[in-house]
Amino acid sequence: MTNSRSLKGTYVSEPIDLAAFPPDFLWGTATSAYQIEGAVAEDGRSPSIWDTFSHTPGKIDNDDHGDIACDHYHRWPQDVSLMKRLGVNAYRLSIAWPRVMPDGDGPLNTKGLDFYDRLIDGLLTAGITPSATLYHWDLPQALQDRGGWPERETAEHFAAYASAVAERLGDRVSHWATLNEPLCSAWIGHLEGRMAPGLTDLTAAVRASYHLLLGHGLATHAIRAAAPGAEVGIVNNLSSVHAATDSPEDLAAARRVDGHVNRWWLDPVHGRGFPADMCEVYGIELPERPGDLEAIAAPLDWLGLNYYFPAYVVDDPNGPVPYGRSVRREDVPRTGMDWEIEADGIESLLLRLTDDYGARKIYVTENGSSFPDAVRPDGSVDDPERTDYLERHLTACASAARKGAPLAGYFAWSLLDNFEWAYGYDKRFGLVHVDYRTQARTIKSSGHRYAGIVRTHGEQADRAA
Ligand code: IFM
Repeated sequence: MTNSRSLKGTYVSEPIDLAAFPPDFLWGTATSAYQIEGAVAEDGRSPSIWDTFSHTPGKIDNDDHGDIACDHYHRWPQDVSLMKRLGVNAYRLSIAWPRVMPDGDGPLNTKGLDFYDRLIDGLLTAGITPSATLYHWDLPQALQDRGGWPERETAEHFAAYASAVAERLGDRVSHWATLNEPLCSAWIGHLEGRMAPGLTDLTAAVRASYHLLLGHGLATHAIRAAAPGAEVGIVNNLSSVHAATDSPEDLAAARRVDGHVNRWWLDPVHGRGFPADMCEVYGIELPERPGDLEAIAAPLDWLGLNYYFPAYVVDDPNGPVPYGRSVRREDVPRTGMDWEIEADGIESLLLRLTDDYGARKIYVTENGSSFPDAVRPDGSVDDPERTDYLERHLTACASAARKGAPLAGYFAWSLLDNFEWAYGYDKRFGLVHVDYRTQARTIKSSGHRYAGIVRTHGEQADRAA
């Protein structure tokens, strides 16, 4: 298997060490409910904070919203067929809380659950292992109206919702993630205001972060009780953080940024409590009650890593918490999100989870890139930059696996172009192109390349067996 390294526009082939991955490696694609499903008012689904936020003028580029998105709610059989064509053996989806429990607590909405029932049965029939995430940012608006994640009750309701879903689907789903990227919910949603619910309030943000992790811990226990044999994990988006210079100020700022984006989310679930240095930086009292830290540290079966870009940090004493910010480095390759491309970051994070946190099983639960794709006159979509990004990061994953990272799967973000939150539909991450006017799907050249990688790994594993 070879990969292409872009070198001043030329593509040079180098091998991807696929033998570094175990024979039962999960090769998947990932999506989330609000980004693809549409059907926001169908079959009893209630509004989520993202419906509210995206319909608030000025919050989303082009005032886009998820009302229809990829219409996956109706077109899921076609999307499962696309996965089959890609040859993947796993699919990471998220369950929409407002679809299955519209009030956030209380009665289940059978019609909403039926949708996931059908989808999961369809996946299993296609030989694709479902990996279900219970919270990918779409809090029922009804719970936001009662205070949302800054309130403890939300964590308790989350555990009850997780239990009900696991009870219904746990006979067929064994892979469960509690939260997707709680950093975004807490920091971007409650501190920076760029995501739902759009707050800019440090106290609310710190309380939200605490209750998200408490909800994770309570839900982990609840899932296991409802579905014995479930494998439960949490998905964090981590960054490889570097000081931009060797100055003591920048080094200290890098340590704070690392605390803000990495350690705050990893330490508590590994029984280390909330990092003391960051508690000092935030200066907000945690709403801690006896037993909480033990609940948050419920042992996990796996860790999910979402990786996109590194951070090169300078001190920013007059800026917002954590008083350090990423600098834009010149002459560095970037994606269409303006995110720096640095595949070494995924390797170093996989090794950090292994060496510093003792991870026993890791999935790369998201990794991918957005580029402005051009549809050619013949209808095909050629996306060499996304292919290059994919190959570089898989090469780095293989290197981490060779060095001992217990990497058990890789989920490309994303199966489909979809609603990219505050950026709307202009940013395309899919291995499959979506024409939002017609809902036509076209596998991009990166998707064909991914299919080739998956196939080759399978052939190699068969030969080695
Ligand atoms: O689209 C998002 C996804 O919902 C969460 N992780 C990052 C992706 C790309 O921004």
